[in-house]
Amino acid sequence: MEDNMEKIIVKGGRELHGEVDISIAKNSVLPIIVATILNPTEITLNKVPVLEDVIVLINLLRELQCEVDFSPITGELRINTSNLKELDPNSELIRKMRASFLIMGPMLARFGRCKISMPGGCNIGSRPIDLHLKGFKNLGIESEIGYGYVEAKTERIVGNRIYLDFPSVGATENIMMAAVLADGDTIIENAAEEPEIWDLARFLNSMGAKIEGAGYGKITIHGVNELKRPKPFTPIFDRIEAGTFMVAAAITNSKITINGVNEEHLMPTLEKLKEIGVQCTITGEKMFVDGTLRKNSVDIKTMPYPGFPTDMQPQIMALLSLTKGVSVITETVFENRFMHVGELGRLGANIKIDGRVAIVDGVSNLTGCEVKATDLRAGAAMILAGLAANGQTEIGDIYHIDRGYTNIEEKFRNLGADIYRVHR
Ligand code: EPU
Repeated sequence: MEDNMEKIIVKGGRELHGEVDISIAKNSVLPIIVATILNPTEITLNKVPVLEDVIVLINLLRELQCEVDFSPITGELRINTSNLKELDPNSELIRKMRASFLIMGPMLARFGRCKISMPGGCNIGSRPIDLHLKGFKNLGIESEIGYGYVEAKTERIVGNRIYLDFPSVGATENIMMAAVLADGDTIIENAAEEPEIWDLARFLNSMGAKIEGAGYGKITIHGVNELKRPKPFTPIFDRIEAGTFMVAAAITNSKITINGVNEEHLMPTLEKLKEIGVQCTITGEKMFVDGTLRKNSVDIKTMPYPGFPTDMQPQIMALLSLTKGVSVITETVFENRFMHVGELGRLGANIKIDGRVAIVDGVSNLTGCEVKATDLRAGAAMILAGLAANGQTEIGDIYHIDRGYTNIEEKFRNLGADIYRVHR
């Protein structure tokens, strides 16, 4: 899967035009796939994008003897977890993806125990699991960490009040899933408010769960005894993919139309782009982006939703590196999400880092060269920078990009960009 020989080549300087269709959100569909474990019946998800992270989860479910049928062309994903077996803690697939730790909540609900290899750190930070385990403890689940594993067990999951020290997306999702079939009510305070949390609750409720308040800071999960077979479910559009194309229009001084947007979910990105000078007009699920106007430098601080998304920080940094004036970007969500700064620097950007703050002094042009996708969104930022740079940008380690963007070169090519993939 990790084909290190593949590269994306971008020849910069072309104006973009036309329309692009946004896919279903990676960070919505991953927890939803995991949530099917709670309900041993046939479940259909629609419009599931072909992403490496999705394929890893599908393979994991197959390894656990679930029936999974995926049509990459229609995006129909049918899952039946009736024959689910317990997790092999040594599964290679678990180690492949941080999000697979979300399997813990539904596994505990189904078997009362789960042993899993400790999720490692990743390029953007150490990403601990203390908040997940603290939440589990409040539900009567004991856990132990040792020799690279986390082992958790319980006789019975019992609803309780849980306060999260930080509104972690993953912890909120894991606790929510563990609590669906619990005895009594669970209240999560200081819960993550991301739209993907709301979407997971929408899916769980479609199977008969009783969750209120998801998408806000206080979520109540009334435990139910059993779940029913849900109607086919379509998750929300990917707000980060939409944001990436909004920045693409801005960085290439172009006008494009983006199909598949939710104005509310995009608000933090929309507001910042407006401040920069990008004009976005939304009609229903369609957005027209005019990136041809003069741009201003801005200050940005990433925050949990509804703050500015950390998953848009590298892309917006690429844009600001070409925007006259000094912009200050503060990353408060992950402690090490500035790996792309060095790569942007190779292209000629002038960015200094001081702890969690990046000071971006806009330059008048970037020049293509060899760079690396140091993580998923950093990879997107390299494509964006490459679209605007003079000459050719060669992006390596693009397996990171394939984890979260489907058909990315094709989508950009359809907009008129000169971009293609090579095997070297
Ligand atoms: N954290 C803890 N303890 C925990 C859990 C998290 O200290 O038990 C810290 C993390 O170390 C991090 C911060 O809390 O500094 C935020 O982590 P969070 O748990 O909210 O993130 P996540 O669930 O691991 C999801 C997305 C990320 C996205 C973040 C923040 C999925 C599959 N992943 O990760 O997506 O950046 O929320 O919005 O939903 C991406 O798509 O590129 C991506 C990295």
